[in-house]
Amino acid sequence: MTKTIAWGITGAGHFLNRSFSVFKELRSEIGDIRINTFLSSAAEEVIRMYGLENDLSLISGGDYLEEIFLESQQGKSWPKTGRFLLDKYDALVITPATSNTVSKIAHGTADSLVSNAVAQAVKGGVPVFVVPVDIAGVVVSELPFGIAREICQKCEDCPPRENCPNNAITDQIELLECEGCGICKDLCNYNAIKGGPVELKVRDIDTRNVEIIKELEGITVLEEPEDITSAIRDL
Ligand SMILES: Cc1cc2nc3c(=O)[nH]c(=O)nc-3n(C[C@H](O)[C@H](O)[C@H](O)COP(=O)(O)O)c2cc1C
Repeated sequence: MTKTIAWGITGAGHFLNRSFSVFKELRSEIGDIRINTFLSSAAEEVIRMYGLENDLSLISGGDYLEEIFLESQQGKSWPKTGRFLLDKYDALVITPATSNTVSKIAHGTADSLVSNAVAQAVKGGVPVFVVPVDIAGVVVSELPFGIAREICQKCEDCPPRENCPNNAITDQIELLECEGCGICKDLCNYNAIKGGPVELKVRDIDTRNVEIIKELEGITVLEEPEDITSAIRDL
């Protein structure tokens, strides 16, 4: 029988690529699956920065129950989340879940597309799986492209700037314009364009919020995106 999964994506760089890999694999492993995506406004921006827009349309095809819903186009009363009350979905998976969205879920706030989807899913008896990015300790996150100031030679003719398809390079990379294609990284003669791992300390408040949502009805917290595969298989 066809499984219909709602996928909520929030604006986290951490776990983003891994979440996409898991959903791509789910599509090929469980052939009979529909994936309907709900993107927070921040996710819309971050997905572009990491160059994942095309991958998203390969995962959510666009037909009914395979649409990509953008928070920026959904008004403020979130009519699309009413679907969770109508027996349309087998599960809602939020990955990656920012500390912002985890905090909203923990405190019952439902004023964004993804936090509202969680509220409606619980009310409609749809199981919810959440993969928080900030659980405890230190996390290693992947940064989008940026200019390493100490390496940049401020060349008058700057091949990355001149060849950026989005004109996203000034004296820095304007991330809201950047689509994460990486052309600039290869064109810089001094290897001054970087993107990559950075260590972040998880705040106590974020750890506490994760503990709160572990106790909430209808919600299961998963430690990493790869745990989604067996959770979906077991539905
Ligand atoms: C490149 C980039 C990466 C980010 N990564 C994270 C992250 O890993 N975790 C996080 O909690 N917030 C991260 N943020 C910040 C969130 O996008 C921001 O808090 C946003 O308001 C979250 O909104 P949302 O929960 O509705 O998606 C990142 C922002 C940018 C620009």
